[in-house]
Amino acid sequence: MNIYYTQNTLKPFIKSLKSEGEKIGFVPTMGALHKGHLSLVSNAITDNDIVFVSIFVNPTQFDNATDLQKYPRTLDADVKLLKTLGNNVFVYAPSVEDIYNSDVNSEKFSFDGLEFEMEGKFRTGHFDGVGTIVKRFFEIVTPDNAYFGEKDFQQLMIVKKLVSKYKIPVNVVGCEIFRETSGLAMSSRNERLSAEARKESAFIHKTLLEAKEKFGTKSAKQVKEWVQKQFDRNSLLDLEYVEIANIKNLKTVKRKSKTETYRIFIAAFIENIRLIDNISLN
Ligand code: PAF
Repeated sequence: MNIYYTQNTLKPFIKSLKSEGEKIGFVPTMGALHKGHLSLVSNAITDNDIVFVSIFVNPTQFDNATDLQKYPRTLDADVKLLKTLGNNVFVYAPSVEDIYNSDVNSEKFSFDGLEFEMEGKFRTGHFDGVGTIVKRFFEIVTPDNAYFGEKDFQQLMIVKKLVSKYKIPVNVVGCEIFRETSGLAMSSRNERLSAEARKESAFIHKTLLEAKEKFGTKSAKQVKEWVQKQFDRNSLLDLEYVEIANIKNLKTVKRKSKTETYRIFIAAFIENIRLIDNISLN
């Protein structure tokens, strides 16, 4: 499999592909690939001639130095997995210097308020970091289509906003959450969980599903209070937030309307590892 480590070697290759009229798909990742990533890559293979997968643990989107340091880095295993998907899949695995030179800082963005909700309240600067790296990748890879998982639903909305604000010519495709058999949303962070914690973390999805049922007859506030109570009774998982938001602007639902679409979002800690998940409510 061809791996590109620098923009300088990657860009001429992309230029030649474009001149031949090849359609380019792009899947940005931070590595430690799991089946969820592979399903994004499979979608990209279906829609495009050539697929690039970036593997880069982006320092500017971490607000917690330990989290950045402990983030799993498994390039060899990742490349091995990607190889099984076909020979039109290429990897871009840059160094921090290749992306940032010596200035490892984020650009400042306005995403029309999307950045202040949920994750934005708890992870200072996170979406500036995501905006910075995704914009840079789009400039380097110039994909026709780019694939993002709905597990990071807020990130997906923010990337769509980035593309529309900066008029970046890429089609952003949101892909459904891939789950373990237990219901736990697949995440590279799951690898750091003990067997007991991994089992217990299925509680997040189970609670989301029960909350969805309750949302049929109860207000958003009542459902959130109910979720909080379930977590209060769980000795292993600590709820950071539960939110029920309108998918248009990610603002808290005050009064339900049949014409709007809502999702419920949870962030929780177990063994000091932060897990997020969300499902559609209607
Ligand atoms: O979702 C992720 O893994 C990251 O936020 C992304 C999009 C690869 C940017 O670093």
